[in-house]
Amino acid sequence: MSTPRSFPENFVFGAATAAFQIEGAAFEDGRTASIWDAFARVPGAVINADNGDVACDHYHRYREDVALMRELGLESYRFSTSWSRVRPDAGSVNPAGLDFYSRLTDELLEANILPWLTLYHWDMPQALQERGGWTSRESVDRFTEYALSVHDVLGDRVNVWATLNEPWCSSFLSHIAGAHAPGHQDVGEGLLAAHHLLLAHGQVVRELRARDESLNLGITLNLTVADPVDSSSVADRNAARKLDGQFNRWFLDPLFRGAYPADIIEDIRAEEPTAFARLEAAIHDGDLETIAAPIDTLGVNYYQGEYVAGTAPAVPPIELEAPTERAIRAPWPAPADIHPYERGLARTGQGWEVQPEGLTRVLNRVWADYAREAGTALFVTENGAAYDDEVSVEDGVTRVHDVERSAFLRSHLGAVLDAADAGVDVRGYFYWSLMDNYEWAWGYHKRFGIVRVDYDTQERVLKDSALEYRRIIRNRTLAV
Ligand code: NOJ
Repeated sequence: MSTPRSFPENFVFGAATAAFQIEGAAFEDGRTASIWDAFARVPGAVINADNGDVACDHYHRYREDVALMRELGLESYRFSTSWSRVRPDAGSVNPAGLDFYSRLTDELLEANILPWLTLYHWDMPQALQERGGWTSRESVDRFTEYALSVHDVLGDRVNVWATLNEPWCSSFLSHIAGAHAPGHQDVGEGLLAAHHLLLAHGQVVRELRARDESLNLGITLNLTVADPVDSSSVADRNAARKLDGQFNRWFLDPLFRGAYPADIIEDIRAEEPTAFARLEAAIHDGDLETIAAPIDTLGVNYYQGEYVAGTAPAVPPIELEAPTERAIRAPWPAPADIHPYERGLARTGQGWEVQPEGLTRVLNRVWADYAREAGTALFVTENGAAYDDEVSVEDGVTRVHDVERSAFLRSHLGAVLDAADAGVDVRGYFYWSLMDNYEWAWGYHKRFGIVRVDYDTQERVLKDSALEYRRIIRNRTLAV
């Protein structure tokens, strides 16, 4: 029998959600439409045309949900504020919207749960989208106004502030692949959106820092490891380089080094000259300095690795289940020379590879190449898996024996400990998600929660994985 592994003393255990995915109350107390309210209504954009009107009804049930968090022993809760609740139509401040987050924060603090606030988890006001959204430079100032109005009300109680969640998704996946709101397919737009998102991040970090030096400021990126199928093949290595560059370094380099990665810049210049010209014109003097404003914390979201070659496989890889026709799983911007291959790893109920050692590698790499020198601490701000849960009623009690999710949780926590053992300053882990919720283009079709939500009754049930997580948190050890 092997020895249980202990977590560092100050390691923080949490769970994450996002406003649009759980709140519902979509048009209550002054909230107006966000780009996801609009996108969900575009025929074919979301499975089943599911929308966020009710979601998990968390807006009305937040007290019950915080009580569940307390029951699980969570030490921190990562949530996001909704821009269109706080500043409807990106206009003036809506006190009723802000009041919800104020009540939620108080409830968390009372339960001794550290609030971990994300300002942008993909729900820009639709009115601002109609003026160009993230492709317009105006978005930077509107986002800053919004961030400061949240800080006006919560700054006295919330210490941890993340500007953006996964800007790769709100730029490339949303403006190039077209799989997320606003559902556009244009490389130039994707590049502009990414630049303005990063700039908005930097400007908000600067402004918040000027207001209060004691705040813990950061951003959350989705990161991956890209392996070439044949490391002796130039074309395969090039595919892995491009994927890494477009997905990881396009965001890490400007944030930590104040420059976009030179090799990817060269690719775009050669392959997408029109888009390149638009990007060049959008980068003003001083922008990259603003983007590189020092941060205290980098949130790492990790789900799976990538295994790619420069040429298409003879036998196509397992057909990935795609939620909608729009949701092509195409890397950007030159899928012609990046081809995913099958390598026989287990997959989640969504077809995503289960590759825990990829998380160790991501943490090691980000630490060694970026965060250590900058003195930035790492947190895993998302990691989790969707499975087709089965519900049973045993002696009148509803149960979900989600064995695979518990195994996923344990193996990935082990991967975090491996990184910590290797000297990485990784200080916490947030499971995605606290509860089943609106999985974007997949609607309510994919369940990531450790808490089951019955969408007909809004009843919450702790799955076995929640009980497992509670045991781990309580003992602060991982039985291996
Ligand atoms: C990343 C996103 O931040 C979150 O909103 C999403 O539900 C999960 N990954 C799972 O896809």
